[in-house]
Amino acid sequence: MAARMPLVVFGAGQIAEVAWHCFEHDSPYEVVGFTVDPEYLGQPTLLGLPVLPYAEACARWPAGEHAMFVAIAYGRLNQARAGTVARVQADGYRCANYVSSKALVAGEIVPDSNTFVMELNNLQPFSRLGRNVWLWAGNHVGHHSVIEDDCFLASHVVVSGSVTVGTASFIGVNATIRDNVRIGARNVIGAGVVILADTQDAQVYIGPRTEASRVPSHRLRGI
Ligand SMILES: CC(C)(COP(=O)(O)OP(=O)(O)OC[C@H]1O[C@@H](n2cnc3c(N)ncnc32)[C@H](O)[C@@H]1OP(=O)(O)O)[C@@H](O)C(=O)NCCC(=O)NCCS
Repeated sequence: MAARMPLVVFGAGQIAEVAWHCFEHDSPYEVVGFTVDPEYLGQPTLLGLPVLPYAEACARWPAGEHAMFVAIAYGRLNQARAGTVARVQADGYRCANYVSSKALVAGEIVPDSNTFVMELNNLQPFSRLGRNVWLWAGNHVGHHSVIEDDCFLASHVVVSGSVTVGTASFIGVNATIRDNVRIGARNVIGAGVVILADTQDAQVYIGPRTEASRVPSHRLRGI
């Protein structure tokens, strides 16, 4: 069996743990350790692997022989992740992609761009992901749709056909985007929001809140 490629995960939080699990169990990479900026240094190990400050990680796991994956979610509207990707690439690291073996991918993905596609995503034909795009579990990206660089889609988002999602946007769980719409750059589309028309750059859409019934659950007749 071919040796697995060594990978360093940037980050040491829950997202880094999930990334470790995905790469470890479902990729040609073997995670050798974690790295963080010194101010984030906490425990010395995570999941039995060393956690090193970035400068030490660069010395111990040099760029020529190791790939890196930046496991930072959508902080500062994806800019924390995008900035770190640019930094580690400038230091010579190739940023690995993870694409789940349980995703359906007929669309295009940029190789080595820190893209993360979890299980049950469906990328239809002629769809395209930019660089450093994260699709958490179970999204639908319709045919001829483009998700631009640095976006983050939480789970079970429906992006219909021929949609463009602008750079660095965040789309929350169960949001629905109708066909032929353009979402502006740096949008925040909240959980359960339905978008039926184009949006401007930097807009925020918050879903309708539901109210608790005055009737407590033990008094409901039908359940
Ligand atoms: C859209 C969403 C991101 C908004 O987040 P939020 O935490 O509720 O936002 P905030 O607490 O900052 O804003 C709440 C309120 O403050 C207001 N507010 C926020 N910043 C403001 C500012 N600078 N000036 C004035 N008002 C402001 C908002 O309009 C809102 O007002 P309301 O309470 O009258 O409705 C959130 O509702 C959502 O849907 N998140 C996605 C969840 C999800 O999918 N999670 C999965 C992750 S993997």
